[in-house]
Amino acid sequence: MEHFHRRKGALYAQSYACSQLAEEFGTPLFVYSREALETAWQKFEDALENHPHLICYAVKANSNLAVLDVLARLGSGFDIVSGGELKRVLAAGGLPEKIVFSGVGKTATEITEALEVGIRCFNVESEAELDRIANIASALGVVAPISLRINPDVDAQTHPYISTGLKENKFGINMTDAIEVYKRAAQMPSIEVQGMDCHIGSQLTKIEPYKDAVERLIGLIERLKTEGIEITHLDVGGGQGICYEDETPLDIAQWAECVTDAIGERKLEILVEPGRFIAGPAGIMLTRVEYLKSNEDKHFAVVDAAMNDLIRPALYSAWQAIEPVEPSTVAEKVYDVVGPVCESADFLGKERKLAIEQGDLLAVMSTGAYGFVMSSNYNTRPRAAEVMVSGDEAYVVRERENVEDLFADESLLP
Ligand code: LLP
Repeated sequence: MEHFHRRKGALYAQSYACSQLAEEFGTPLFVYSREALETAWQKFEDALENHPHLICYAVKANSNLAVLDVLARLGSGFDIVSGGELKRVLAAGGLPEKIVFSGVGKTATEITEALEVGIRCFNVESEAELDRIANIASALGVVAPISLRINPDVDAQTHPYISTGLKENKFGINMTDAIEVYKRAAQMPSIEVQGMDCHIGSQLTKIEPYKDAVERLIGLIERLKTEGIEITHLDVGGGQGICYEDETPLDIAQWAECVTDAIGERKLEILVEPGRFIAGPAGIMLTRVEYLKSNEDKHFAVVDAAMNDLIRPALYSAWQAIEPVEPSTVAEKVYDVVGPVCESADFLGKERKLAIEQGDLLAVMSTGAYGFVMSSNYNTRPRAAEVMVSGDEAYVVRERENVEDLFADESLLP
């Protein structure tokens, strides 16, 4: 059974009617399916089972403690990009020795905290960062495990804002500089060279960019070997794409085969950092139609969720499926589904054929990744509640914010 499915036309999250969830917990509401998270994670586990590997869920995709808890219980590792995410993972029971730390701007405090708890590896993005990590590790009297994030200069064939593996992007170290930086790193007493890392972009639905990137990295690993530098793990990043509209999701078994084929007999543990593939399809956002309005050209459905709740459509022109929660007999019309925020970019979907009336519930599908985590309080809108459905139970895993809390830390002038 699909985790989100229909019974007699009505949308269910596992055994819960979505209308009941909206009734109980209000809207806008993010609903996650525990079983969907587990199933997606397991796909990576199954595909890589014959090869040493570590799945490091990319926390940024959805960092709710309950989501991290579900994955930690499966034995997942985590890919973090801030000291905040480090604290979340530890609070959710994630193991430090399964954490990799990515990101171009790690602060001295963040590096210190990560060294103190003993994370698995730093994915180093520049020579300056390498120096900083080496100095802090040396002052703490520890050795820092590192990978260099290589920018393989491949086109991930995705939206430019979420493409990260081209020379023009800010991420990683160029192929041409990599050998020299590795040589320097290998000389540093407080650094242990462990791995090689890349992440070429997000929402990738084709295998070829991965193949290109991995082959380039393997070439580099071979060259390092001749310099006496042994790489023991290859972190291939995340980016595995899902279906939002009509895309074919990346086939994880095929993807794994492509990576393991490229590695061949080499003794390289595979690390992978999927975010969207695990969390995206595991979540939906419920919203209620506040008003229907029309002008000469258009029909609008004004709903109670806005760009502050789900910014992907406004930010990337991302297409997210929008479905009525309950079946209806009213005539279908073509609507722009818009929020109450005072921006023309505040839409969830444009030109959607929907049979709806005022007061109806809509579900925005595949919002488990980069949904709530990118939400804001713009227009002094409290952020939505989050609910996790697990078996026959539904748990509030984040309470809806109160308006008063939003300005509780502000003050009037004396
Ligand atoms: N590893 C690194 C180093 C990353 O930068 C990212 C995502 C991931 C892993 C996970 O990528 P995923 O498997 O989720 O594609 N907000 C955008 C996506 C930004 C992705 C940023 N980096 C969106 O809503 O489409």
